[in-house]
Amino acid sequence: MTRDSAGSDPAAGGPSSWLFRSRGGWGGPGAGSGLLDRQAERAAIDRVLASARDGFSATLVIRGSAGVGKTALLGYAADSAADMRVCGVTGIETEIGLAFAALHQLLVPFLDGIGELPIPQRLALRVAFGMEQGPAADRFLVGLAALTLLARAAEDQPVLCLIDDGQWLDAESAQRPGPRCCAARSS
Ligand SMILES: Nc1ncnc2c1ncn2[C@@H]1O[C@H](COP(=O)(O)OP(=O)(O)OP(=O)(O)O)[C@@H](O)[C@H]1O
Ligand SMILES: [Mg+2]
Repeated sequence: MTRDSAGSDPAAGGPSSWLFRSRGGWGGPGAGSGLLDRQAERAAIDRVLASARDGFSATLVIRGSAGVGKTALLGYAADSAADMRVCGVTGIETEIGLAFAALHQLLVPFLDGIGELPIPQRLALRVAFGMEQGPAADRFLVGLAALTLLARAAEDQPVLCLIDDGQWLDAESAQRPGPRCCAARSS
């Protein structure tokens, strides 16, 4: 298993809220906190979480072969972030062609803030998510809207975004979360 960019990515994102993600699973609360090994990986996750608590964004990418324990580490991250707002999404192979499907899943808990977005970002996100008719959504504006939603949420509480099976994310969703967020991605 390899890891990269722990705590150093400037563009990077409680246990009850991360369960909103119903597709797949990280095994539920407690699934990752019982890990006795994986010390280096757990330390890397701890650093990312500490960075988010200090107000900095960070991204951690977890890569490894099938069944090696990537999802379990995401569970560890979730269980270690009781003081954070935890959200997440799992990439689904059959949805890889559905534009913005994964981003929609990730942002559902934050959509009550959509009305406060700058108008171009709001329109782009609403069109991308099928909430409004309009020309094809501008990917930059959609990404910006996602960043804005997450950044505003992170002003109140650090946000942890967990992305599992990242290899199956649709291309339009495969953009980075924002300030004071951290993300663990299994791919
Ligand atoms: N450090 C560990 N010690 C013991 N068992 C573990 C450990 N990590 C994971 N497991 C167990 O191994 C199995 C596979 O783990 P997990 O689902 O996290 O792997 P994965 O890398 O996400 O797999 P996939 O590539 O299929 O998504 C699970 O039953 C899990 O509980
Ligand atoms: Mg997995």
